[in-house]
Amino acid sequence: MGEPEQLRDGAEQRSFDSTEQEIALFRRRLMGWYRSHARDLPWRGVDDPYRTWVSEVMLQQTRVAAVLEHYERFLRAFPTLVALALAPESAVLAAWSGLGYYRRARMLHKAAKFILRERGGVLPATSAELRTLPGVGEYTSAAIASIAFGESIAVVDGNVERVLLRITGRDEEGTAAGRAFVQTQAALLVPKRKVTGTINAAGDHNQAMMELGATICLPRAPLCLQCPLYAMCRTRGEHITPKKRGQRSMPAAYLLSLRKRGTLTEVLLERRPVDASLMAGMYELPPLPQDAVAGREPLLRLRHSITNTNYYVQVFAPRGTEDRALRRAVLAAKSDLFWTRTNRLAQEPLTGLARKVLQRLNVMEVTPLRLPESAAAVPR
Ligand code: ADE
Repeated sequence: MGEPEQLRDGAEQRSFDSTEQEIALFRRRLMGWYRSHARDLPWRGVDDPYRTWVSEVMLQQTRVAAVLEHYERFLRAFPTLVALALAPESAVLAAWSGLGYYRRARMLHKAAKFILRERGGVLPATSAELRTLPGVGEYTSAAIASIAFGESIAVVDGNVERVLLRITGRDEEGTAAGRAFVQTQAALLVPKRKVTGTINAAGDHNQAMMELGATICLPRAPLCLQCPLYAMCRTRGEHITPKKRGQRSMPAAYLLSLRKRGTLTEVLLERRPVDASLMAGMYELPPLPQDAVAGREPLLRLRHSITNTNYYVQVFAPRGTEDRALRRAVLAAKSDLFWTRTNRLAQEPLTGLARKVLQRLNVMEVTPLRLPESAAAVPR
């Protein structure tokens, strides 16, 4: 690498625009490490662009552990792009339930329908064309084009950005210039050749960069002594990484209301507004205002985290006359309420929290259904 360039405030920055040899060494070290340390994830080594697309959309802003719980199940429900395109949206959202950011599922479905209608069901093979699809931006198009089709294009997600800032010693600025710097570095490093035999140089390189950020170059306590790029790194654990924004805490209360219909049990659900900024159109237990539940004992307490908010959730089940106020509180909200059979819940587009609560209370178990004692009353 050439002489480090002097940056403002005396910070030193290194970049990869010096010698081809150094770039080649970087790639060799990275790939040597990746081949022996990469996690065995079900979307790696697949030879089906549709599967790569599904995995990359699921992985946007979502932990690998959460994706692992959904990926195989989603593909069993929709094994091909055509199966996805022909499915009703509610079935797609039901399979996505618990992954969050439901707009992604709607966009994936919309794009599948578009590809079936306009392209005979064949996914575009270049990053430029992929970007024209609903829900496919710069990151996702580069990931699919490189991983599924071997295109030489760099993928920059949060993990890759952190790796490159630390290696080069550039401060994290959060500016357009900072992002352009990272993009340039990533583009210099991605291998230029395409697929040769079974080796997909660019796709593997991109996945290795993301893997290094996810497992070694960690945001808080990086494992520098295990890093294959330690010798080339400008900061070696000394990079100033801005503190994570603190977690917020919020209370939330929901109503659990069950009723018997012959041998079947039904649960009262609410459809979130279609224009809600979060989880639009998904089903949840009817929310209760905090003042309606003050002083009452919940049936269930749990904590649920969504991005940087911890929800302290309480679930209330109406009991005798006590439930009238709760019913009024729900109905006053003029919400979109409806009864659903509990043996259908698995197919409904529930929010992740609703699914968690209904599972925790055994309401989603079809046979035998154990009603929580106090939840048997009917709210209206
Ligand atoms: N994050 C998003 N996509 C990824 C991939 N293909 N490999 C590793 N981490 C990822």
